[in-house]
Order: sequence, then C-alpha cells, then structure tokens
Amino acid sequence: MPNTKDYIYLDNAATSLPKPPGVAEAVAGAICRAGNPGRSGHALSIGSARDLFTARERLAELFGFRDSSRFVFTENATGALNQAIKGLLRSGDHVVTTSVEHNSVMRPLRRLESAGVSVTVVPADATGTVDAAGMIAAIRPETRLLAVTHASNVAGAVQPVETIVRAAHARGVFSLIDAAQTAGAFPIDLSTLPVDLLAAAGHKGLLGPQGTGFLFVREGVPLVPLIEGGTGSRSEDDHQPDFYPDCLESGTPNSVGIAGLSVALAWLLKKGVDGIRAKEVALVSELLEGMRRIRGAIVYGPEDPSKRGCALSFNIEGADPGEVGRRLEREAGILLRAGLHCAPNAHRTLGTFPQGTVRVSPGPFTTRREIGKFLSAVKRIAAG
Ligand code: ALA
Repeated sequence: MPNTKDYIYLDNAATSLPKPPGVAEAVAGAICRAGNPGRSGHALSIGSARDLFTARERLAELFGFRDSSRFVFTENATGALNQAIKGLLRSGDHVVTTSVEHNSVMRPLRRLESAGVSVTVVPADATGTVDAAGMIAAIRPETRLLAVTHASNVAGAVQPVETIVRAAHARGVFSLIDAAQTAGAFPIDLSTLPVDLLAAAGHKGLLGPQGTGFLFVREGVPLVPLIEGGTGSRSEDDHQPDFYPDCLESGTPNSVGIAGLSVALAWLLKKGVDGIRAKEVALVSELLEGMRRIRGAIVYGPEDPSKRGCALSFNIEGADPGEVGRRLEREAGILLRAGLHCAPNAHRTLGTFPQGTVRVSPGPFTTRREIGKFLSAVKRIAAG
C-alpha cells in the first residue's frame, strides 16, 4: 500500500495527512477495547464513554467554549451541516448564503426550496470573497438563517464571518459557519464570536480520522433532530431526550475514530492553533510568490495570504486541470485535487466552471522543501 512517504501530499483541504503522532495508535487501541459508550455500564463501555467525554472536552477547550455538551459528534462536516440546516429551517423561512458554498450547504438548501424555504445566494467577488454588507442587505423579515463558509475550499478566500455573524445576531437571525476548511487551522473563539451553529470535519484541520466531525449548537437554537433512536440515556422513554448532546446523537457513535480525534485535539492544543496558522500563511505566501513567477500560471483567490486559507486554486493556460493533476502525480509524485471540488458555484464565481482548477493545499506537516518541489514541477509542466 502506498503511504505519504512515497509522495508529496498537498491535498489537506480534502483530508489531512499525515496525522499527528499517536492518532493511528489510538485508533488501533480503541478498536481492540471500545465498548459501546454510555450503553452497557460495564468497564469497557464506561471506558469508551470516557474517551468520548475527553474528546468533547478537548473540542470545547480548542474552541473556547465552557460547555462541551454543545459539541455534537457527527460522521463528517456534511452530516453536521445537514443537521443544522434541515433541523432549523421550515416552510416560509428565508436563508441567505453565498455563491462560494460547498454542495454540503447548497444541496440541503436546494432540497428545502421544494419544501417552501426561500434561498438568496449573495454573489462573491472575482476572488471568491463575499461582501458582508451584501449579505446583511439580503436579510428580510422572514430570514431565519445566514449560512456562510469560513474559507472557500476552492478560492481559499476567508470570509468576513465576524461581521456577518454579529449582524445576524443583532437582527435576531441565526447564523451558521461551515468551518470545514478552518477548524484546527484558524483560531476560532466561540466565547466571543456569537455564532449559533458551527460545523466542521474531524479529519481535515482537526487532524483526526475520517468518519468524524462535529456540530456546535449554541443554547436557544431550536434544532429538530434528523435522526432519533437509542442514546443510552432515558431508555424508559420512547421520545427522544431533549438535552445535549444526546438529543442529536442517536445510535452507536464512531468511538474508534473519536479516540483518534481526541489525540489529534490534544496535539493541536499543545501545539497551538496560532502557530499552525502562522506556518500555513508562510507556506501559502511562498506558493503565491512562486506561482506568480511561473509563466502561464493563473492563480485564483485573494492575493494577500492573510486573507486566505490553505487551499490555493490555479490553472495553467491552455491545459486541462485534470491532466495537470495527473501529470503532477505521475511526474513528481505530488498529490492534490483537480476539478470542481464539490463546489460548482464557487467555480462559476471564479469563472472556472465547468473545467475547474487544480487545487494545492498544504497542511501543518508540509515543508518548504515540498513547496519548492511542487513549484518546480508546475514550472516544468507550464513550460510544455
Ligand atoms: N470537501 C473536501 C474538498 O474540498 C472533500 O476537497
């Protein structure tokens, strides 16, 4: 089986690799001893429940929120976004979103349109950045939700979420941040940012295993569970419990994956998200500078690296992005993602639909040497 050592892995926007030390061992350990958490009451069941509690506490610490019960484990960011959107919106409601959202936001919203929810998509500019004033101006009396990505998974553009969330809050409108591309890579403080709902994957910037994610739900947000069933609590009652996190966590959870996520969260807490962000901004600066020097390379998104996440989209004049991606793997062992990145509207916004772009996304373990090798390989391909 290939592993990251055989390649230069620059696809962290899709999933992070490698994982921090101890994550794989935690997963392997948990598969051998994880009882069903909160169900059976024996030693292995209690041990597993403790693992979940520890992971939840670490999430709360990382995001600066005292009550860990408001962090609901999900299978991925998509599950969290579906729960947030479909659990909140009802016929007659209006939602404001942006033209750079991932399909994990747009598809649930399009589904709800047929159930009487109306959707306003505020266009982002040519760099993929949305104007907060445009989102705020789109609020109507029946607006129930403002939904915005923290950073585009295509353009990399960081959105003015602070302004958007505060404006929503002041007008009594709920807000949802899709933090799939930023959780673990950007400082996010839920004690000061009054966002109501925040969704993220556990396997991207949070550096845990695939099959993990979470939804943060602030007190007072009336979410209806999408899935009901066994929670291990209130077993005498055939109604879903109404307390967090149980009300949104039915069925046996991914205890094995969450045990790995917990170790990744401990690593992030020790390392500090600020340091990771600073390192990633430096890597993106090098990428931007290097790409500017390559004749025929077109880079999308903001020019200022501090206004970008770690995903950087580009094309080579006259070349098909899929073929560029394949050549980078074949000729230089570089792994990244080309195409539409499950965000067709983001590509329409950038003018790169339907062919898409090549997307390079470094992570916390990427080295400057790897960036150098990537730039040399792109230069060779652009030279024809
Ligand atoms: N949403 C992930 C990406 O952008 C999978 O690649």
